[in-house]
Amino acid sequence: MPARFKTIIEPFRIKTVEPIRHTTREERLEALARAGYNLFLLKAEDVLIDLLTDSGTGAMSSRQWAGMMMGDESYAGARSFYKFRDAVHEITGFKHIIPTHQGRAAERILFGTALKAGDIVPNNTHFDTTRANIEYRGAIGLDIPIPEAHQPQLDHPFKGNIDLEKLEQVLKENGERVPMVMITVTNNSGGGQPVSMANIRSASEICHNHGVPLFIDACRFAENSWFIKTREEGYSDKTPLAIAQEMFSYADGCTMSAKKDGMVNIGGFLAMNNDELAGHCRNMEILGEGFPTYGGLAGYDLEAMAVGLFEALEEDYLRYRIRSVAYVGERMKVAGIPFVEPTGGHAVYIDAKTMLPHIPWHEYPAWALSLALYIEGGIRSVEIGSVMFGRQPDGSEKPAAMELVRLAFPRRVYTQSHVDYLTEVLDYVSQQRARIRGVKIVEEPPVLRHFSSRFAPAHGDIILPEA
Ligand code: F0G
Repeated sequence: MPARFKTIIEPFRIKTVEPIRHTTREERLEALARAGYNLFLLKAEDVLIDLLTDSGTGAMSSRQWAGMMMGDESYAGARSFYKFRDAVHEITGFKHIIPTHQGRAAERILFGTALKAGDIVPNNTHFDTTRANIEYRGAIGLDIPIPEAHQPQLDHPFKGNIDLEKLEQVLKENGERVPMVMITVTNNSGGGQPVSMANIRSASEICHNHGVPLFIDACRFAENSWFIKTREEGYSDKTPLAIAQEMFSYADGCTMSAKKDGMVNIGGFLAMNNDELAGHCRNMEILGEGFPTYGGLAGYDLEAMAVGLFEALEEDYLRYRIRSVAYVGERMKVAGIPFVEPTGGHAVYIDAKTMLPHIPWHEYPAWALSLALYIEGGIRSVEIGSVMFGRQPDGSEKPAAMELVRLAFPRRVYTQSHVDYLTEVLDYVSQQRARIRGVKIVEEPPVLRHFSSRFAPAHGDIILPEA
C-alpha cells in the first residue's frame, strides 16, 4: 500500500454488471402505498440503491465462481464439504463444524438443542432472529452491552463490548439458568460496533470460571478483526486471520451467517468443541437442514464459502470496506445528521430519535425516516427501533433503547459515486427533517413484526410533503 496517495480505491475491477432502475417520486409513493409503507414489502426493482442489508447481497469474486464449478454434489461425504470444513477449522479452530443454509438455522439448531424454558442467554445485543429463536424456546435473551452503547453520539473504540460486571452478576445470581453466553461481533443491533479482544478474553474467563460456555455470533468476524487491528494496542502487526483465530480461541463455539463475512449469497454454519452437544445438534440438523455434510446447501455453496471466508480477511478489502463506511459518516457529520459514532463496520446508523424529536416513539420516527429516504432518493434502509424491538413477549409495547435507521452496505457492490449520491439524498432529507411525519401500524403479525406489518401515515396521508 503506497503511503504517497491518500485515495483508497475499490480493490477489485468489475466483470459483470447489473442495471439499476431510476423511478420518479410519484412512482415511489405509489409503490410505497402498495407495500403498506413497509420497505420489506417493496419489489426490489423499485429500489435504486438497496441498503436494506449487507446479508447475502454481496458480489462474489471470480475465484468464488470458479470454485463453484468444482462443487461436489454427492449427498454424503462430498469433497466440497471437507474443503469448507478445513477452511472454517483453520479460521475458528473448532472441532465440530456443521453447515447450515444461513445463520438463523444455526441458531435454531443450537437453541433447540441446548435451551429450555426459563433459561437466560446473555449477549452484548441479540440480533432479532437470535432473540426470536431464544424466545421461541421460552427462554430469555438478555442484552448487556456496556452503557456507552446506548449513547449514539459518544465516541468509544469498542462500543460493542459486553458489560463484564453485569455478566459476572448474572452468572453469580442465576448461573444455573444460563446454558451459554453469546457475544455478537460486530454488534449489529448496537450500531455495527466492534468488540475488543480484551473484552472477549475477559468474558471468556468469567464464563469459564462459572462453567458456562461462550459462543460467538460470528457474522462479521472479519470486520471485527480489522477494528481490533486498527484500534487495539498490540494488534497492528497481526494479520486479520491471526486476530480472528485468537478471537475464536476464547470461545467454545460459534454461530455464523456466511451471508455477511463469508461473502456468499446463501450459507452459514454452527461450530463447537463439545462432542456431546455436537452429536445432538447433528441430529437436529438432519431433521431440518439435511445430512451434516451439506446442511441445506449445494456442494457449490460450500465451495464459495470456503473461498469467501478468506477473501473477507484480506487487508486491502477490509481497509476499503471500513473506510467507505467511515466516509459516509464524515459526510453526514458535515450535513449535521446525528448517527451512531464512530461508524461501524458494515453500516451507518442514523439516530432518528435525535434527528426527529417531533415524532414520538409510538409513531416510529426511524421507520418514518426510512420511508422519507425512499420517497426522495429511492434508497432502501432498515429501521432498528421500536418497530423491530418494541413488541414485548407478553404482548405489551415499550420504546426500544434507540431509534435507528441502518444503511447497510452490500460487500463489493456499490462504488464511490453511489455513495456520493446517497450522501446527497441524506443531506436533502435532513434539510426537510421538520416536515417528516410519523406512522401507525394497521396490521401486525405475532412475531418479527417488522418484516410483514402494514403501516399508514399517522397524520393525514402524508409522510413527507413535496418541498
Ligand atoms: N446474527 C446477526 C448479528 C445478524 O446480523 C444476522 C442477520 C443473523 C444472526 C442471522 O443470520 O440472516 O443468515 O439467518 N442479519 C441480517 C441483517 C439479516 O440484515 O442484519 P441469517
